[in-house]
Amino acid sequence: MDLVIRNATLPNGTPGIDIAIESGRIAAVGHALPLRGEQEIDAGGDLVTPPFVDAHFHMDATLSHGLPRINKSGTLLEGIALWGELKPALTQDALVERAMQYCDWAVARGLLAIRSHVDVCDDRLLAVEALLHVKRRVAPYLDLQLVAFPQDGLLRSPGALSNLKRAIALGVEVVGGIPHFERSMEDGAKSILLLCEFAAEKGLRVDMHCDESDDPLSRHIETLAYHTQRLGMQGMVAGSHLTSMHSMDNYYVSKLLPLIREAGVAAIANPLINITLQGRQDTYPKRRGMTRVPELLAAGIDVAFGHDCVMDPWYSLGSGDMLEVAHMGLHVAQMTGQEAMQACFLAVTETPARILGLEGYGLTPGCHADLVILDAGNTIEAIRLRAARRFVIRRGNIVSQGPAAQAKLNLPGRPERVDFRHMPERMAR
Ligand code: FE2
Repeated sequence: MDLVIRNATLPNGTPGIDIAIESGRIAAVGHALPLRGEQEIDAGGDLVTPPFVDAHFHMDATLSHGLPRINKSGTLLEGIALWGELKPALTQDALVERAMQYCDWAVARGLLAIRSHVDVCDDRLLAVEALLHVKRRVAPYLDLQLVAFPQDGLLRSPGALSNLKRAIALGVEVVGGIPHFERSMEDGAKSILLLCEFAAEKGLRVDMHCDESDDPLSRHIETLAYHTQRLGMQGMVAGSHLTSMHSMDNYYVSKLLPLIREAGVAAIANPLINITLQGRQDTYPKRRGMTRVPELLAAGIDVAFGHDCVMDPWYSLGSGDMLEVAHMGLHVAQMTGQEAMQACFLAVTETPARILGLEGYGLTPGCHADLVILDAGNTIEAIRLRAARRFVIRRGNIVSQGPAAQAKLNLPGRPERVDFRHMPERMAR
């Protein structure tokens, strides 16, 4: 065997497990495997998990904090306006450099798959080309899945639909949308129809920013579920944010959840961003704004947590740590029961892997040998401690070793040390 990990605890709590790896795949998993590895790692009873997966991110905006200015109010709408100011000044080199830097951070955190929305409302498609380039460069160590995202509205922004189709033709693989940002409810519904029919025709997945609003009457998720079911796209569609559900009438939600379940639509909450951006018009009591995670899970709907933003016009914090995301999600949703806390861990690992359609993800024989050894005994402790990543392994190779701030990386063409400080002057070019 190329590598054998001894005495691991699995995410389901099973202790004393050995994992044997050969040719980039998991060859065997079991107690006291009678196999020798060219290299062996003693996990010492620590948790070994498949890598973290971020179901919702914006890599074209990441690490741009402070460019061209800081978001003073910290609101969603000032963030969108600020991004609009920054867009004309973006260069491909700067986009690529910031994204590559973020991928270094991600690897040091054991985050090896990211679904990133990429804004297609710029006729140059600069960000699309930059992130397609990044996707190819990071492919040996990180799966970057791109979503064509019409940030300024599919129908509201001239050229957005044709730009979205151009982005897909260039290699972007998921169809995005933002129905609540169109000019009317009718246009929102029409954008969902157009996008779902386009995706169905092309056999593509769909992931829309959907109802990122405190307006209880923002019900585009109902339309998204309707077209998903009508077009037979079960398992291919996700609704991101769904924050209006927080404020909806309980009776309506009791009707809505089974419709989402029947349509096989997944939900993606973004706890760090939802708790900071929603409820901004409220005095007190002030709404949390995150979607109804425990209720969605109880209805049998897949729910993942995304990071959404790191050091960008909307959010000036974050460092690519999906355990921080799970920690916040757990608190905001009051998911403090044992099973609920374990579900929060799944919301940043297995569930988003399923939503992204990642092939060979998991800890069973035949899966890719992608895994993380954490300085924690179980998934709840991992969240409690935002546990250090002892080893991050991709296709059987150690790509990061040691706690994140001191992590030693082993990535082709990248620096050996990861630097989590933000240096705008380096990023501003
Ligand atoms: Fe987003």
